[in-house]
Amino acid sequence: MEFLILSSTQSNRCRFVILISGRGSNMQALVQACENQDWPAEVSAVIASRPDAAGLRWAAERGIPTAALFHKDYASREAFDAALAEEIDRHRPDYVLLAGFMRVLTPGFVNHFAGRLVNIHPSLLPAFPGLHTHAQALATGVRVHGCTVHFVTPVLDNGPIIAQGCVPVLAGDTPDALAQRVLQVEHQAYPAAMNWLAHGRVTLTADQRVEVQGDPARLFTWTPPA
Ligand code: GRF
Repeated sequence: MEFLILSSTQSNRCRFVILISGRGSNMQALVQACENQDWPAEVSAVIASRPDAAGLRWAAERGIPTAALFHKDYASREAFDAALAEEIDRHRPDYVLLAGFMRVLTPGFVNHFAGRLVNIHPSLLPAFPGLHTHAQALATGVRVHGCTVHFVTPVLDNGPIIAQGCVPVLAGDTPDALAQRVLQVEHQAYPAAMNWLAHGRVTLTADQRVEVQGDPARLFTWTPPA
């Protein structure tokens, strides 16, 4: 009788490729959640949009395959995105998670990964798409701010919402102080969304809304340190 031994890459674990541009704290939270918990998930690669992204080294030190593509090496946005898609596809991901990936992606790229491309944005979308979200929140005087994990569509920061995390805006907040607080709920909301995806609990309805089996609220709330 012959026995077939499956390695983790041949198993039916859900495969994630994570894209970063900088320090990669969300990527680290995702990798650690995968490692510390018995999830049917693995991070197959971490890919950066610049070779000096600090998070790349952290991932490589943990034995995760890494790659970097520098946009200045490509003649056009389309050429960069095509090379990026090719590199991602080599790792056969079920989902591609953007974690501080600071590039606007072409519709061709987004459509190639339709329904499998997820982003985290540091605001409660649809408020404050784009950059400088914490400064925007302070300038408008909102009392609640946060983050959104969402599927990516060709419209920037505007896809079906998987999860949100909320934080209070406090008296005396600076953009940096607010960013730190938001980051704490980012590190809760993104791993939770990854867990739901890995377990096949996320569905997209015909009217482009997300449902998560067993978690109707999909909301994470910041609590002050004890
Ligand atoms: C996060 O705030 C994320 O929401 C935004 O960029 C930041 C990236 O931080 N898109 P990090 O690289 O994950 O630490």
